[in-house]
Amino acid sequence: MTTLNDYFQSHLNTASTDNHSQKSAVIDVINTITTVGKEITELLRKGALADIHGEAGAENVQGEQQKKLDVIANDLLLNALTTNKHCAGVASEELDDATAANEAGELLVLFDPLDGSSNIDINMPTGTIFSILPYNNKGQTVQNSDFLQKGTEQLAAGYLLYGSSAMLAFTFSDALDSDNDGVVMFSLNPTSGEFELVKKNIAIDEDTKEYAINASNYRHWLPPMQQYIDELLAGTTGSRGKNFNTRWVAAMVGDVHRILCRGGIFIYPKDTKDPSKAGKLRLMYEANPMSLLIERAGGASTDAVNRIMDYEPTDIHQRVAVVLGAKNEVLQVQQLHKQ
Ligand code: AHG
Ligand code: MN
Ligand code: MN
Repeated sequence: MTTLNDYFQSHLNTASTDNHSQKSAVIDVINTITTVGKEITELLRKGALADIHGEAGAENVQGEQQKKLDVIANDLLLNALTTNKHCAGVASEELDDATAANEAGELLVLFDPLDGSSNIDINMPTGTIFSILPYNNKGQTVQNSDFLQKGTEQLAAGYLLYGSSAMLAFTFSDALDSDNDGVVMFSLNPTSGEFELVKKNIAIDEDTKEYAINASNYRHWLPPMQQYIDELLAGTTGSRGKNFNTRWVAAMVGDVHRILCRGGIFIYPKDTKDPSKAGKLRLMYEANPMSLLIERAGGASTDAVNRIMDYEPTDIHQRVAVVLGAKNEVLQVQQLHKQ
């Protein structure tokens, strides 16, 4: 049995002298996030008894109604990370602007404190997503613009899944992954309160028969996306010559977790409901961290045409269309969009 602490110790032993201090800072930040993850897990286990259900009675900067647990999880992460000496600043789905932390810190942390908010009150899976970036203006107070770095700059990214068990999945960037472990998964042992390693070097099959999309938006999609789903629905009677199955968790963490466990494709496409929005999901704290996980596991992650991690961000809350998972399916979607 390898605990998260053992795992990190081994990684610190193998880290190169060039990036040892950066890696140790990243590890310290992930430890802070997982400590909060355990607190959120506890609250979810108590459920209605912990007064975490229902609306908070406020809206976030994106005009979405906040749930009580969105606010609680955000406050827990904000308090914990702003007191971590390596953290120069944080940005969150639930905060209009970046919050400065420690000027001497060398890292920036972005998070979606509670992903899948519509699942909270019905006891269904939710999660927390995080992305860790380098801070390039050390010694100065953090501003929103400091966070606007491409996904390829991420030093580490991952999520906590609050499902029937609590799990942690993350990956270091290729440069920091001195043990070549790729994407790793830990399960929270409820008896010891420790995360224990269950899988490493997770690999996503290039092909799949499982897809995730909210088909209630079908009439708002662009024609190539409608055509792609039409072809999947036609199954053995259509051009694809095989049957596909649908799964939709309504929490991106849950859908990405399923893809890391047994493959598949996840899509939240651009639609015409609100032409000012490029998609529903947010680039900086949903799409980029999930893209790093998916790519490091051998999958692909695009906006239907271009690679997500190559986006030059313009806003910490910017939205993006997301098509990620099994390489050959993502390619299929890209080909239809290019035609
Ligand atoms: P959040 O709860 O952080 O706002 O994110 C919800 C996102 C994502 O997790 C999920 O895949 C999607 O919204 C669900 O959308 P639908 O409501 O269209 O099912
Ligand atoms: Mn989310
Ligand atoms: Mn959220």
